[in-house]
Amino acid sequence: MPDPHAHAHLSKTELLARKNEEALLGGGQARLDAQHKKGKLSARERIDLLLDEGSFEEIGKFVMHRSKDFGLDKEYYLGDGVVTGYGTVNGRLVYVFSQDFTVFGGSLSETHAEKIVKIMDLAMKNGAPVIGLNDSGGARIQEGVVSLGGYADIFYKNTLASGVVPQLSAIMGPCAGGAVYSPAITDFILMVENTSYMFVTGPNVVKTVTHENVTSEELGGASTHSAKSGVTHFSCANEVVCINHLKQLLSYMPQNCEETAPAQPYEAAGDESRPVLDGIVPENANQPYDIREVIEGIIDEGSFLEVHQNFAENIVVGFARLAGRSIGIVGNQPAVLAGVLDINASTKAARFVRFCDSFNIPLLVLEDVPGFLPGTDQEWRGIITNGAKLLYAFCEATVPRITVITRKAYGGAYDVMNSKHIGADMNYAWPTAEIAVMGAKGAAEIIFKREIAAAEDPEAKLQEKVDEYQEKFATPYRAAHRGFVDEVILPSQTRQKLIRAFKMLENKVDTMPRKKHGNIPL
Ligand code: HXC
Repeated sequence: MPDPHAHAHLSKTELLARKNEEALLGGGQARLDAQHKKGKLSARERIDLLLDEGSFEEIGKFVMHRSKDFGLDKEYYLGDGVVTGYGTVNGRLVYVFSQDFTVFGGSLSETHAEKIVKIMDLAMKNGAPVIGLNDSGGARIQEGVVSLGGYADIFYKNTLASGVVPQLSAIMGPCAGGAVYSPAITDFILMVENTSYMFVTGPNVVKTVTHENVTSEELGGASTHSAKSGVTHFSCANEVVCINHLKQLLSYMPQNCEETAPAQPYEAAGDESRPVLDGIVPENANQPYDIREVIEGIIDEGSFLEVHQNFAENIVVGFARLAGRSIGIVGNQPAVLAGVLDINASTKAARFVRFCDSFNIPLLVLEDVPGFLPGTDQEWRGIITNGAKLLYAFCEATVPRITVITRKAYGGAYDVMNSKHIGADMNYAWPTAEIAVMGAKGAAEIIFKREIAAAEDPEAKLQEKVDEYQEKFATPYRAAHRGFVDEVILPSQTRQKLIRAFKMLENKVDTMPRKKHGNIPL
């Protein structure tokens, strides 16, 4: 264990060099080796991978804890279990903290927390993202309440920074107890498969309280949180993949809420038509198709980064580029549960819409939705409140917003999915669009119930009425006559239309009424 007071014989420059060496070793070579043996990188190796070469400037390298209890008066490590500072990712400034599991298991002490808070303050004053690389045994047990206070200081800063600068959390080891709430407040969470986990209480407490036998991985591993709970937005095969995802994510975002995301160089091909889009929506309205094919057909090639890929797959959200500019996409997914909106789909999309709106990223909505999912499960778990989140998120979004109705836009879901009525700037529909209160069969069964029952051949009567309803409402034209749809376009024209419309909207100014803050239904 390094002793910071044992270098009295060294010259001043030797002393500095010695301290630098000690700091780089964290909790010592044996613990670094143990970290590598678990398939994990060290705190500093992670920073090196993340930042542009040679750009890292460390802050607080020689910070030490102030604790005296339980032997801590004799155990010090320079940096106190977290490496903090700033650097660049693809030339853009970011602030970073990277917890060092080799020092007291990366546990959070008072001073460890102060280091994190310091870079968060700098990030907010200077308007740049904060990236947290988390690998920690939680509160420094020997410190008691001052460690808990340190966590609370971070939670508070996370909340103040929310919507001011992007905050990204990579989970690369344990993250348990109240510690999970800092990442939870940040904008995006990425987890590494098999070496990271997040839970409020671990398997032992679970066993005592609920008598369930569950492993850490089952309870709070990357696959659990990416598919079941939705806590993590990305599940990454290893740490390198995770760090690459962090970099890619950053590329779609501005530095802060006052800026727009950087555009990538883009050469217009001249003809922006995409004939491939004409063949995606099947003739039969009940047949599924993959909305990702529509997305790929519209955007700049290879630019889609899907968020929450394994969670609530009946809606697809993610970032992409259109003519080099960053956009956020929300698309119903007809290939899963017919693209119906349920609780998870609503909360997933609402959170994404709010992120995009916070950081001036224009929104593209691709709509093919038969409605909200019926049933006691959904009603009893609050589809009303949760569906309202998505409605609310769209209503208060002031970024450029465009909707393309590819097929079904039924019922309340028509209103919710970025309709003109709730502030969308431009709404397009494909000729296959069906905009109605409900599907033709359900509608005919209700409004012509008596007529059908009294008919000699009720089946034939039903079909006749279904056809009648279909002809009247299962088209985009009623909505277009009213101006609820601005233009009915061929799928192949969509990319061209969107490029022009987003360009037309690029200087959009829209504000919400003055208020302290809204009260989104939580
Ligand atoms: C101080 C800790 C520590 C902690 C680990 N260490 N967690 N030191 N405070 N919270 C130390 C260990 O003593 C050990 O020191 C080194 O870190 C590595 O730990 P190991 O147990 O050897 O590693 P491993 O087997 O990989 O297990 C990792 C672990 C386990 C699962 C994280 O250490 C563990 O369960 N730790 C306690 C977790 C915990 O209960 N934390 C408090 C949660 S409550 P040496 O010297 O041997 O290297 C909480 C509240 C936050 O965090 C509330 C915020 C509101």
